[in-house]
Amino acid sequence: MQRKVHKAMAGHSSETTKAYLRSRAQMVSDYLSQLLSETQRPAALFAGMNYSLLAGGKRLRPVLCLATVESFAKDPRTALPAAAAIEMIHSYSLIHDDLPVMDDDDLRRGKPTNHKVFGEAPALLAGDALLTQAFSELAGLDTIRPQLVLRMVRTLADAAGPYGMVGGQFVDMEKEHGDGSEADLEFIHRHKTGKLIMASVVLGGLFADVDEPQLTALTEYGLHLGLAYQMVDDVLDVTATSEQLGKTAGKDAVAEKLTYPSLIGIEETHRRIELEFQSALASLRGIGLGDSVLYGLAELLVNRQS
Ligand code: IPE
Ligand code: IPE
Ligand code: MG
Ligand code: MG
Ligand code: MG
Repeated sequence: MQRKVHKAMAGHSSETTKAYLRSRAQMVSDYLSQLLSETQRPAALFAGMNYSLLAGGKRLRPVLCLATVESFAKDPRTALPAAAAIEMIHSYSLIHDDLPVMDDDDLRRGKPTNHKVFGEAPALLAGDALLTQAFSELAGLDTIRPQLVLRMVRTLADAAGPYGMVGGQFVDMEKEHGDGSEADLEFIHRHKTGKLIMASVVLGGLFADVDEPQLTALTEYGLHLGLAYQMVDDVLDVTATSEQLGKTAGKDAVAEKLTYPSLIGIEETHRRIELEFQSALASLRGIGLGDSVLYGLAELLVNRQS
């Protein structure tokens, strides 16, 4: 099948956005790499945490956070603790997602999964540790008003826990080998992936102390982009190779997951991606961010090949 391209603007070049993503992803990775020292006890726990946290990954969520901060003319470096907290939660979710009792995956970010290297119990605990430490990192933000930090903490907790990612993962497991409806599928994707992507943008907005209408628009942008992001993940599981993805391709069909391609087919999934993508862009235009880096990032993310 021919590759589908989702376009934000006619004649718009994605090279500047790609360079932006590369540079901010590097900023995040540099920051993360000095957070957890493996000379502390238990050294194997810190090593396990760093193994997954520093394994690479696109760093999309922390970069969305920094991009939002910059869209409101604030210095991204001062927001790095928030960006790091988000990536720590994302990395924990991947470690647990790969466990034998969950998706049972051997490959992640181009390397053997955490439990393959460290064992299942250490992997479980490395995930727990990243989740908890993320909130310590976030609460350490001391350059903005404490009320803003509190809202950031709550937004991230709600996006990660039972009202967010964990809730979505729960239904994802429940509906394996099942006969889920489209409403179930939308619930799963909005929660397991959409909420954390939404929170990444909203934390950036809170950090920049934007007003409530702006926060609402950023929330909408994040939710639409987040749903599209997981739809693309489902498509890539079918169309890309394990080498391209750095994780095992074709797993969803084997595990009989409820996904968009399995329920409505790839063509129709692309149509839904386009709808979510256009809604995300409309939310940005509504607050005058039609030429911001967030606009270009949305385009890059829905067209990604890995
Ligand atoms: C993978 O996320 C899991 C999903 C929620 C789709 P990413 O595709 O962002 O994975 P990394 O962080 O780049 O490894
Ligand atoms: C997982 O979705 C989303 C998470 C919350 C980790 P998937 O199970 O489809 O993610 P991959 O394909 O393993 O990265
Ligand atoms: Mg999964
Ligand atoms: Mg998985
Ligand atoms: Mg997947």
